[in-house]
Amino acid sequence: MLTTKQPVFRKFWHAVMPLTDLAAGPKPFRLMGEDLVLFLDEQGQPAALADRCCHRTAKLSKGWVPSEGPLAGKLQCGYHGWTYDRTGAVVHIPQLAEGRTVPPDHRTTAYRCTARYGYAWVALEEPVADIPAIPEFDAPGWRTIFQFYETWHTAPLRALENSFDNSHFSFVHRATFGVADQPKPSRYELVDTAEGFYAETVIPAANPQKFHAISGVTDPITTRHMRNAYFQPFSRRLDIEYPSGVRHIIINCFTPIDDGRMQLCQWLFRNDTEADCPAQLLIDFDEEITREDKEILESTDCDAVLDIRRRGIEFSMESDRPGLLIRRKLMELLARHGEQEVHRGNAAHAPSSPAPLQAAA
Ligand code: FES
Ligand SMILES: [Fe+2]
Repeated sequence: MLTTKQPVFRKFWHAVMPLTDLAAGPKPFRLMGEDLVLFLDEQGQPAALADRCCHRTAKLSKGWVPSEGPLAGKLQCGYHGWTYDRTGAVVHIPQLAEGRTVPPDHRTTAYRCTARYGYAWVALEEPVADIPAIPEFDAPGWRTIFQFYETWHTAPLRALENSFDNSHFSFVHRATFGVADQPKPSRYELVDTAEGFYAETVIPAANPQKFHAISGVTDPITTRHMRNAYFQPFSRRLDIEYPSGVRHIIINCFTPIDDGRMQLCQWLFRNDTEADCPAQLLIDFDEEITREDKEILESTDCDAVLDIRRRGIEFSMESDRPGLLIRRKLMELLARHGEQEVHRGNAAHAPSSPAPLQAAA
């Protein structure tokens, strides 16, 4: 599947950027192949426009947002100073003759953009689903740790199925928590949900001394009770519970940049304290594991097979059940929206890009 060739994914909210990244000024982001500029408006709320000035096409992300005066919270182009509000309308042209007003058709495309869980989220078209709920965010008894925000050269589907794949621990993660002599995967119990599915299992996990603060237990091999949930199209929630009662909840959004890249957005929630286990230790621990996944996933083909009836390209095994269920659900989603899988073999015959969008309010 070539992710950007499936317009239905434009109808979902995607996590695109931590709000803290916008504090210093506008920033570019490519979502589903569309170049966007994000900025904070006069209320401090994130806004997303097409990264293209309607004067001489300069990238608006090269501009700035005045912090005071009549243009505060508006996005000013760095080329000649045309200035946009969050609806994409040009509200100021510095060179305009006295008494003239900006013509109403002077605008660039605006997209739906909202703040949630410390991130700016964007939907390129009217969304068909809510942003996944993260009840632990800012909740009493929970710490929020923004772990990773980085570009990976792989497809969201690859990262997603990897996060439900119990067969890779003994290999990809043999240097960290994988138990090398227990390669047989634990079986997930899979339950359909409105947003995707829920998968639960218990796995063995290596627990050397340096991991004791992470797990809250001291046994050399411990267990992880995994409660893993898939949210269409490219998000998941992994709730890991150790026998100590320590919970380590990872939320991932695998945001599609283009057909060869995705943005990994990862939050971590813990029910212990900084004194029990410092945030930096948790970041370092998960970073090592995440690097292991990144390296192998970047070696896979970005054009992941969605329709497994296209046999002979990718074969599967029992532990691929969650990955196959993700594929089936994405196939059903495509079908509900009148789409078929677009892949390298048929992309030349696929419908062209969707029509330009209307400005969002
Ligand atoms: S190109 Fe943006 S103001 Fe001229
Ligand atoms: Fe992994």
